[in-house]
Amino acid sequence: MKTPIYLFANWKMYLDLPESVAMARELSSVAKKHASRTVMTVFPTALALASVAEELKKTTIAVGAQNVYWVAKGGYSGEVSAEMFKQAGASFALVGHSERRHIFRENNHETRQKFEAVLEAGLTPVLCVGETLPEKQNGFTEEIVETQLRAAFTGLHWPAGKPLIIAYEPVWAISSGLGAEAAGGFCDASYAQTMALKIKQLLHGLVPTEMPSVLYGGSVRPTTVAEYLAQPDINGVLVGAASTQHDSWLGIVAEAERGS
Ligand code: PGA
Repeated sequence: MKTPIYLFANWKMYLDLPESVAMARELSSVAKKHASRTVMTVFPTALALASVAEELKKTTIAVGAQNVYWVAKGGYSGEVSAEMFKQAGASFALVGHSERRHIFRENNHETRQKFEAVLEAGLTPVLCVGETLPEKQNGFTEEIVETQLRAAFTGLHWPAGKPLIIAYEPVWAISSGLGAEAAGGFCDASYAQTMALKIKQLLHGLVPTEMPSVLYGGSVRPTTVAEYLAQPDINGVLVGAASTQHDSWLGIVAEAERGS
């Protein structure tokens, strides 16, 4: 059986509640046309997650949280736990997205706690790793990614059969806003492939029982998605800005299906 191609749409804080519901409704109306090898998940804002899940419940499109807190319930104003997201219809959760790590200063220890909480709640975590531009320029890329992976996985019991999904997202390649003109630095597909392979090799030592899937994220557009998906160790894409506009997202999906 061929491995799935993951098409993950991180709506970040781009879409508000009515826009998220409208986008989910449009996706549900075209969902049946999708080939079975692609696995689509949308990650709306916490506020819109339950409504989006409701819109998509009769489709194969899954819903995920963009961020969770690691305690299930309690006096943590403003936070939402993995359990609560699950109750609202989530089956995935992003953990350690670069915007959490760099804008909100979340460290590897906090990321680990979130990673464990997501697994504990029975959701599938999508661990995001990647280097900043200064880290890349100073030759620290592999060290940074290895540290992020080790912090998440060392001594962790991985539940058998749970998909092991990592998103490699070089921070310097992430879009700074909506639209093609806001694209970040261009990450060559062969560079992304080199990192995806490196991540798989590192994971082999950390979770030897599982076959990991590595997604690429960072300014993916309909014109570039095929190059990334053509790489032998890239199993999908995590798309931000271009996933929040109907035409560009369906363009990405169409390109992915053409190549599958
Ligand atoms: P982008 O975001 O596609 O807007 O660059 C990717 C991500 O941060 O997940």
